[in-house]
Amino acid sequence: MTSLPSSSAPALQRSAIPGSYGWPVLGPLSDRLQYFWFQGPSSFFEKRIEKYNSTVFRTNVPPAFPFFGGVNPNVVALLDVKSFSHLFDMDLVDKTETLVGDFRPDLKFTGGIRVLPFLDTTDPKHAQIKNFCLDMLMRSSKTWAPTMVAALDATWDSIESKKGSTGSYLLPIQQSIFSFLSRSLIGADTTAVPEIHKSGHVMADKWIAFQYLPTISINRVQPLEELFIHSFSLPFWPIKSDYKKLEKFVEIQGKETLDRGQKDFGLTKEEALHNAISILAFSAYGGYVILFTQLLGNLATHKDVHAALRKEAREKIEENNGDLNFDAVRKMDLIKSFVYETLRFGPPIPSQFGRARKDFDLSSHDKVFEVKKGELLCGFQPVVMRDPKVFENPNEFVYDRFSCAKGGEELLKYLFWSNGPQSGTGPTAADKQCPAKDVVPLSGALLLAQLFQRYDEIEIKGSSITLKKVSSESTDVKKAE
Ligand code: HEM
Repeated sequence: MTSLPSSSAPALQRSAIPGSYGWPVLGPLSDRLQYFWFQGPSSFFEKRIEKYNSTVFRTNVPPAFPFFGGVNPNVVALLDVKSFSHLFDMDLVDKTETLVGDFRPDLKFTGGIRVLPFLDTTDPKHAQIKNFCLDMLMRSSKTWAPTMVAALDATWDSIESKKGSTGSYLLPIQQSIFSFLSRSLIGADTTAVPEIHKSGHVMADKWIAFQYLPTISINRVQPLEELFIHSFSLPFWPIKSDYKKLEKFVEIQGKETLDRGQKDFGLTKEEALHNAISILAFSAYGGYVILFTQLLGNLATHKDVHAALRKEAREKIEENNGDLNFDAVRKMDLIKSFVYETLRFGPPIPSQFGRARKDFDLSSHDKVFEVKKGELLCGFQPVVMRDPKVFENPNEFVYDRFSCAKGGEELLKYLFWSNGPQSGTGPTAADKQCPAKDVVPLSGALLLAQLFQRYDEIEIKGSSITLKKVSSESTDVKKAE
């Protein structure tokens, strides 16, 4: 477990876990409405921290009532860095089907297979599939950066060609993320299948939405969301034909990868296929869409730091013989810090869960609680990553918080976006940490470095981006090879 700086009190006070689940049906329903509608997820948890004067308490989390048969919304919330870290200890928690709490989308969405994120480490399939995924990442390490830079170059070129060099980046960036990930991770070229090249990303968006909307807060058109999105699981049939197209694309274009899954990792053809789709279209694509949108959003709100980031990007690319690649971005202290701070400030996957394997003592910063075997633990990262005992001015976006110059690298052991510490030795087949723990921040840094390499001014408003080159020299730098 992560050790904290000498902040803990010498002897922690034992306490019963505060909070309650309320009346059957009414308690979960009321908590669900507070969570999605009246308070919103972050303030739902923050208000209860205040109420119970504790970062560990009992509550209900969605989905709940009326048509989620067999889903128990009762959890123990973990809302500080220390209590959250128990979720990384595989001796303490069982991760069988706990990706989004006690709810699991219908297996029809994944070809009848329980894909990797729903497997506990004690399931022999977990190690086989995790190693298959780690192998995909290892093999793609050389092609990842150039493939990503080329795909994004096409996106920025196309926006540049528009009137006033202004355009919406939302769908174009999703399209390029889908195409570079298909190529890097599973060796599948989207251009070989025009329909996938044009709309693979939209198919993935719909497939993710139909599985996970019951657990996601939108809060734009209430009470319609509560009635039609958060009250029951959505069916597979409306997106069945899209999934079949993704399946065919991965099966044919990613054949070599699937063959390796079978020969080298002992998977059946179906296991290799549906896990490859899940890795590509859910874990990787879904995560990148959120992260890249957040990075651009933070660039929009922090224009004052563009000059420093631009200077660093151009200097380090020049020192790297003009090549924009992972070697260059590894040396970009401020840009990497901006990405880490984005991952801290708005962790893309907000909730993590795990079920107690046995009775055990769980500590927060100041108390010890007894957790009983079978209880579902729920960590909510957007609150945990603002733990004031670990992060100074936690509610401020401090772009250089993690820079070496500020000594912020030490904080990486408390950066948990990947379901584990950023500075830890994972991911391995024996843990549940995201296998892309290292490549994700580097890709974020590559996105920023590329924008600052190409443009002297970047203006972002909502989903619209304006890209300006003041001097022609600014883009006269070699691209990744
Ligand atoms: C910004 C991008 C990403 C984010 C925010 C992200 C986040 C996460 C998180 C939080 C988990 C743990 C889920 C849990 O057990 O509660 C996870 C697991 C996982 N991620 Fe990522 N991820 C990203 C990118 C990727 C990429 C590029 C891949 C592709 C290789 C990937 C593959 C996986 C897989 C296969 C798991 C399950 C691991 C296991 O069960 O042991 N992720 N990811």
